[in-house]
Amino acid sequence: MIRIQEWSELSAWARDRVSLLDVSDGDPASYSERQHSYRVDGGPYRGYHALFAVRDGDVLSRAVGLDLTLTTRSCDEPLLGIADVVTRPDSLGRGLAPLLIEELHRRARARGIRWAALWTHRTWSAHRGYERLGYRDAYSPAFLLKRIRAIPSADPPEGYTLRPCRLRDAALLDALFDRASAERVGFVRRPPRAFEARFRLGGRRSNTVQLLLHQGKPTGYAVLDADQHQVVCHEALAVRRADRIALLRLLERRSVGRWLVFRRTTFVGELGVRAARRGYSALPLEHSTLMVKPLGRLPPADRAALARTFGDPRFSCHTGDMF
Ligand SMILES: CC(C)(COP(=O)(O)OP(=O)(O)OC[C@H]1O[C@@H](n2cnc3c(N)ncnc32)[C@H](O)[C@@H]1OP(=O)(O)O)[C@@H](O)C(=O)NCCC(=O)NCCS
Repeated sequence: MIRIQEWSELSAWARDRVSLLDVSDGDPASYSERQHSYRVDGGPYRGYHALFAVRDGDVLSRAVGLDLTLTTRSCDEPLLGIADVVTRPDSLGRGLAPLLIEELHRRARARGIRWAALWTHRTWSAHRGYERLGYRDAYSPAFLLKRIRAIPSADPPEGYTLRPCRLRDAALLDALFDRASAERVGFVRRPPRAFEARFRLGGRRSNTVQLLLHQGKPTGYAVLDADQHQVVCHEALAVRRADRIALLRLLERRSVGRWLVFRRTTFVGELGVRAARRGYSALPLEHSTLMVKPLGRLPPADRAALARTFGDPRFSCHTGDMF
């Protein structure tokens, strides 16, 4: 018989067996343990709560619920995020993942949550399963790239510099995010101490975030992964238009001889026509997709409001908001 259990109900042995799930999906063996032990304001980060399908004490499948917020034009809508869905490769096709997801839906509904969302790829078999559960594609991030062959002719922007962040800059990065996203809709209400969690829990090194300074004052940042072939910007934002242009030019200078890629960041939309003029190639979507589902019969006006949010030019979603 299959039982649905929470992390706190698992035996020490069963908790160790969860690592089989994690490693089967390419995550570190310590992944689940770290997610459950990391605390912000006394609770798990983003309300991380996993459900496990357990048979004879052993763990066969897992799905995780997150407490998120989606900001529409009219309100902050609580959202159930579904993440870290995985069934052991020797237990597939028995309906375990859908069983756990439905239970997460049921519990969220009982708390008055009206929407659920998850990220997957359109081409993965999981996508079909999510459609069966009532999820529909809602949003996919656009991306841009360019081979930066030579130092761009324009001078470095006056008064602007980049410097690598340290762990103690985390609160400053959160504050910059809040300022730069104030007029936007979408994923603009991050949980407290989001950057610190990214550094401590998510494994991102603080020095991969470059702080944009204007006359010594922080005005933006860029989260970068770089090697000898490419510089990938996973998240960038800046408070004013002039700061955004300066950030783009500084990143181009840093990428000479390599590809510069902007993905999974609202910065792509902010560059817009400017990027085309500067010779970037672009696609309006990538394979990954955000799917959403109403957790009950909602009035058509509410469904329309949510759909409008994803199509809103002010819609905000960066890598740091993905789950
Ligand atoms: C996606 C996943 C969680 C589904 O879990 P599950 O408990 O097997 O879910 P279901 O029982 O509903 O079966 C899902 C599919 O697996 C198929 N399946 C059954 N036995 C299988 C097997 N031995 N090998 C491969 N697929 C099998 C089912 O036919 C079903 O396919 P369909 O959706 O085309 O009908 C699981 O495949 C998995 O862990 N994949 C790797 C991680 C992953 O992709 N997670 C989702 C990230 S968004």
